[in-house]
Amino acid sequence: MARENSVVFQPEGKRVAVRPDENLLEVAKLAGVDITSVCGGRGSCGKCKVIIEENRGNVSPLTEKERKILSYAEVAEGYRLACCTVIKGSVTVKIPEESRTGRQRLQVEGIETPVKLNPPVRKYFLRLPKPSLSDPRPDAEILLDELRRQKGLQNVEMDFHVLQTVPVALRRGEWNVTVVLWNDRIISVDPGDTTKRLFGYAVDVGTTKLAGYLLDLSTGKVVAADSLMNPQIPYGEDVIARITYASRGSKEQKKLQKAVVGAVNQMVNSLLEKTGVKREEVYEMVAVGNTAMHHLALGICPKYLALSPYTPANRRGVNVTARNLGVKINPNGNVYFLPIIGGFVGADTTGVLLATEIYKRDEVCLAIDIGTNTEVLLGNREEILACSCASGPAFEGAHIKHGMRAATGAIEKIRINEDLEVEYGTIDGEKPRGICGSAMVDFLAEALKVGVIDVTGVFNKEIDSDRLRGGEGGLEFVVAWKDETSTGDDIVITQGDIREILLAKAAIHTGISILMRKKGLAERDITLFFIAGAFGSYINPENARIIGMYPELPLERIRVVGNAAGTGARMALCSKDVRETAERIVGGIRYVELAAEACFQAEFLNSYFLPYADLSKYPETSELLRKLGKYPKKLPVYFPT
Ligand code: FES
Repeated sequence: MARENSVVFQPEGKRVAVRPDENLLEVAKLAGVDITSVCGGRGSCGKCKVIIEENRGNVSPLTEKERKILSYAEVAEGYRLACCTVIKGSVTVKIPEESRTGRQRLQVEGIETPVKLNPPVRKYFLRLPKPSLSDPRPDAEILLDELRRQKGLQNVEMDFHVLQTVPVALRRGEWNVTVVLWNDRIISVDPGDTTKRLFGYAVDVGTTKLAGYLLDLSTGKVVAADSLMNPQIPYGEDVIARITYASRGSKEQKKLQKAVVGAVNQMVNSLLEKTGVKREEVYEMVAVGNTAMHHLALGICPKYLALSPYTPANRRGVNVTARNLGVKINPNGNVYFLPIIGGFVGADTTGVLLATEIYKRDEVCLAIDIGTNTEVLLGNREEILACSCASGPAFEGAHIKHGMRAATGAIEKIRINEDLEVEYGTIDGEKPRGICGSAMVDFLAEALKVGVIDVTGVFNKEIDSDRLRGGEGGLEFVVAWKDETSTGDDIVITQGDIREILLAKAAIHTGISILMRKKGLAERDITLFFIAGAFGSYINPENARIIGMYPELPLERIRVVGNAAGTGARMALCSKDVRETAERIVGGIRYVELAAEACFQAEFLNSYFLPYADLSKYPETSELLRKLGKYPKKLPVYFPT
């Protein structure tokens, strides 16, 4: 069909030809125009707002979803949700500042846990005897005989694809070759001595972000790291949305697999480019990811993960050749996905377990990895419990009026003083254009301390400040005035935003508290509290404690461990022993399905309060509120659990 219409994207002035009935968000993406789409184009996050500047009649009518999200004033100004808008003719579209994705803050650093180097990939240099009329053994036989004779290696197998290369490799190296083994399988025969060139690739496949590390397997050191947004996001903001999409059929499932494998390859390409390492020199990839990412990356149908009793296809680690998965390292190389723990506690949590070494500690440890799904581990060498909390994408900015991901210009820290003046910090020090999750946590804690909200999160109408005002959906608090922002609009936090964050924090608290109850533990029994994940690294732990997202533990017991899942993947890449440990320990972990717990509902309701319905569990916060004169006159209702 002819591309007879055009869309001009402003302010860049980028013009693209379009066919009738193309979706505006899709067109923008294909054209490389940066628009946020946290919900993946399902019309629920409200982040893809654009303004139709010219020819408003050339787009489809306003949808029900848009009516729910856009205000009257916005509709009058020509605002639309790009994902809900179909192009009917030529239009000019402005992308407002707040709808731009910007440069995302992606975390690759994680705790360093020492590991003894013992990778399954090894290299052996061999000087081979040339065949002759008196010794006419076939090439492969000479190779295997000499491996046995010179290196003492028995029962070695040769990959068929390697066999195809052997005659040329032996002669090109003038019978001096390097044999690369993955366990007992020969995965490459290189001409000459290449023993010093041995690399591996570790990947953490997150729902939102991917982190990749190129390691020198002769030293165990990271030579380069990179990260990328997960290109599956347009198909759904959380794992359930992705599973739902993939469950539509094999075409959709393959699309998601292709997207994630494509991202894994994009990262390795950039790492190779940065370091000058050759693709053929990367002999193994070790991956971690939640169970949905694990299934999708491996091409396993994820449908049953979302259906009771939420069982995964497999728990043990999976080994597959890079060629079969389409991963662009040495095609005969191995891809190992760490074992998973349960339906919603995946290989990324196994990575956290390895990095924090909870399984070998005497002291009781708590570990959480905060994301759209928050995984919780509790225990020590005797027993470990695990669960997954549906904390949702609110901390990523979804369903928050001015919420955004942690990217340039996001307000990441907030302080409110007694006069209700607000101090804030933004990522990269740019003018603010939205608020990210860490600042939402700060806001709740600070607003509670100064009495802007009460323990139920409701705005205090008695407050006399022009920062607290009536908005379209009820009261809202102005964090940044329009003359301070890059969007030209006030940045506010609404009552609805507070509700979303409270739901997310309640989900996390519920998970932690149910595990503690199951083990009969109190806060004082927890000696170490590991906080993993990019988001957790930027949260102010004191404020997270005040709002009840974290249990009230002394701050010195908290260890922020960054991308610990990535650390676990790197450890497994460097060591067969670590893999054996992973395979052994996951089988012994008690997975707790929170929704099946009788106390779940009541615990969730109790956790919705700031910090918690039973204030005796938060003595320090209670004392602080008392000192500040903000201790509740009426205590929250406690739901018996
Ligand atoms: S509402 Fe359009 S991408 Fe979320």
